Amino acid sequence: MSEPVIERVLFTEEQLDQRIREVACEISTKYAGRELKLIGVLKGSVFFLTALARELTVPVKIDFLAVSSFVNQKGGAPGMVRIAKDLDESIEGENVMLVEDIVDTGFTTRYLHQHLAGRSPNSLATCTLLDRTPRRLVQVPLDYRCFEIPDRFVVGFGLDYKQLYRNLKYIGVLEMGLSARDQERAS
Ligand code: PRP
Repeated sequence: MSEPVIERVLFTEEQLDQRIREVACEISTKYAGRELKLIGVLKGSVFFLTALARELTVPVKIDFLAVSSFVNQKGGAPGMVRIAKDLDESIEGENVMLVEDIVDTGFTTRYLHQHLAGRSPNSLATCTLLDRTPRRLVQVPLDYRCFEIPDRFVVGFGLDYKQLYRNLKYIGVLEMGLSARDQERAS
């Protein structure tokens, strides 16, 4: 029943900084002359959103929402998502970018993209720090992605294990013992 440990560093602080600067540069070029509203999904995206926002050269507004996800253990519809905390302000007529720390199955991003599209933004894009493509179950529109990663449990820079490790400056792979893996699956 051992607790998991960080097995190795996947992305160093320097690698994260450099790649986020590159993506921010792409976004700044694309949105030149326009305002951009970044929408973060609590809690994981907070670290990436702030790092990205600091590198953008266009005027930036920010807002946050939170979701709850349900997996029906009895074989019902997977990937049910609902809004647990809504945006504080309207996005009508705004250039909106949904910012995620990680896209796995795609259910959260797909749901939020549809939800936000229904609120009449001028434009809507998606951006994620990590894209764990081996876990994808539904296709989602991803406009910007910093890194594609393999199917490993990662922590740091916003990503947690049982709410811990979010404050790491790097992204590490967690070596999961059997008990920890069971806990992850059960959560
Ligand atoms: C993570 C991540 C996404 C979602 C992606 O959030 O921030 O919102 O999972 O998973 P999906 O592609 O399978 O839908 P999590 O539920 O871990 O919450 P947290 O951000 O508070 O850690």
